[in-house]
Amino acid sequence: MRRPIVAANWKMNKTVPEAAEFAARLKGLLGPSSKAEVVVAPPFTALSAVKEILEGSAVGLAGQNLWHEPKGAYTGEVSAAMLKDAGCVYAILGHSERRKYFQEDDALVNKKVKAALGSGLNVILCVGETLRERELGETHNVVRRQLEKGLEGLGAGDAGRLVVAYEPVWAIGTGKNATPEQAQEVHRFVRERAGELLGREAAEALRIQYGGSVTPENSSALLSQPDIDGALVGGASLVAESFYAIINSIN
Ligand code: 13P
Repeated sequence: MRRPIVAANWKMNKTVPEAAEFAARLKGLLGPSSKAEVVVAPPFTALSAVKEILEGSAVGLAGQNLWHEPKGAYTGEVSAAMLKDAGCVYAILGHSERRKYFQEDDALVNKKVKAALGSGLNVILCVGETLRERELGETHNVVRRQLEKGLEGLGAGDAGRLVVAYEPVWAIGTGKNATPEQAQEVHRFVRERAGELLGREAAEALRIQYGGSVTPENSSALLSQPDIDGALVGGASLVAESFYAIINSIN
């Protein structure tokens, strides 16, 4: 039995007061416990304010990215230990926006995954194909490569601290979500490949989130698929009530 995990990826949105307002609202809506694991990934600048407000709630904190070196002359970057220190439980790594706008490749993503796990963070590893790759019939090849390279050097013992987010790039921020059947098909594929990489038992326990234009309207159809274990939500996670409605579509 996999506990669903619903995460809010705010991307480059919200000032500290806006983030604090959201956190207080969500805390009020959720109460002290939740059937699904709930995670919020604010921008770095708002982590500490959000952490303070969410103290005593069921909501965990995530960083949206990190740099894999432990410290040093990397202007503008944040380490895994710094995220941990700021109260993060998770790091979102390999997001398609990092791959596209910041030229992150699978080898770099793998270094970040190892740095996160090594610092005691859990990882949400994002994978997913572009529209062109889907049209060329390359979806499985792309996702397989991102998984194999992103998880290189990891074993069954790491699987419990890993979540995979399948986020088809063509569905992100477009209002055009994958159908439940399309998503389920790739999620099944991810679980099979994860079985080869991490072992069958670990793959059965692995939580695989869907991300890409998830809304309160489409979340319950997506999340009721057998291999969809939660959602990674962008736009619809910016308003506490709509994020809560998505969480509630599981509860
Ligand atoms: P949207 O929900 O805005 O499509 O974003 C999805 C996403 O990229 C979450 O990481």
